[in-house]
Amino acid sequence: MTTYEAMTYHLETERLLLRPWAVSDAEEFCTLLAERGNGTPEVERIRTSIEEFLTASQSTGIALLPIVRRAEGDFIGYCGLIIGRSTLDEPEIAYELFRHAHGNGYATEAAAAVLGAAAATGRTRLWSTVADWNTPSLRVLDKLGFTRDRVTTEENGEVVWLTRALP
Ligand SMILES: CC(C)(COP(=O)(O)OP(=O)(O)OC[C@H]1O[C@@H](n2cnc3c(N)ncnc32)[C@H](O)[C@@H]1OP(=O)(O)O)[C@@H](O)C(=O)NCCC(=O)NCCS
Repeated sequence: MTTYEAMTYHLETERLLLRPWAVSDAEEFCTLLAERGNGTPEVERIRTSIEEFLTASQSTGIALLPIVRRAEGDFIGYCGLIIGRSTLDEPEIAYELFRHAHGNGYATEAAAAVLGAAAATGRTRLWSTVADWNTPSLRVLDKLGFTRDRVTTEENGEVVWLTRALP
C-alpha cells in the first residue's frame, strides 16, 4: 500500500487563499449550495457537514478547501481533492464557485494550486468527472492539462472522465 503525505490545507495564489473549513463558513456555503437550484439547505446540516469534512480529512489527508479572494477577503467557493467516483490514490479534483465570481479565471487559478498540492503528497495521477454539458468545467480542466479518458452513462446523463498525470 502506498502512503502519501497529507495535503497542504493552506495555499496561496496571486489573487486567492485556500484554507481549511471553519464552522463559521456554514451560512455562505449554504448560499453557494442554493445556487444549484435545489433549494437552500439547513445551516445546521451544513455545520455538521463541515465538521464531517474536517474529520474525514484527518484520515484521508485530502480535502476540499474554501477559496477566499485576497483583496476582498470574501468567500467565493471551494476547490480541492475528493475521492468522488475515483480512489484515494488517484482522487478527483473538484470546484464550485459563486456565479458572481465566474469568468475571472479563479477556478483555474485555485485548481492549479491544488494540482501542486496533490503532487506534493506523492500522488502521480488525478481525475475529474464532469457532466458532458458542463462546458466551463471542461474548459477549466483543459486549461489545466487534463485529457479525456472515457464517457460513462449515469441516471442523470453522460459523465466525462478526465485525467492528468502529476509531475
Ligand atoms: C466550473 C466553474 C468552477 C468555473 O469557474 P470559473 O472561475 O468561471 O472558471 P475559469 O474562469 O477559470 O475558466 C472558465 C472557462 O470556461 C469558459 N466558459 C465559460 N462558459 C462557457 C461557455 N458557455 N462556453 C464555452 N466556454 C465557456 C471561460 O471562457 C473560461 O475559459 P477561457 O479562460 O478560455 O476564456 C464554475 O462555472 C462553477 O462553479 N460552476 C458550477 C459548479 C460546477 O459546475 N462545478 C464543477 C463540477 S464538475
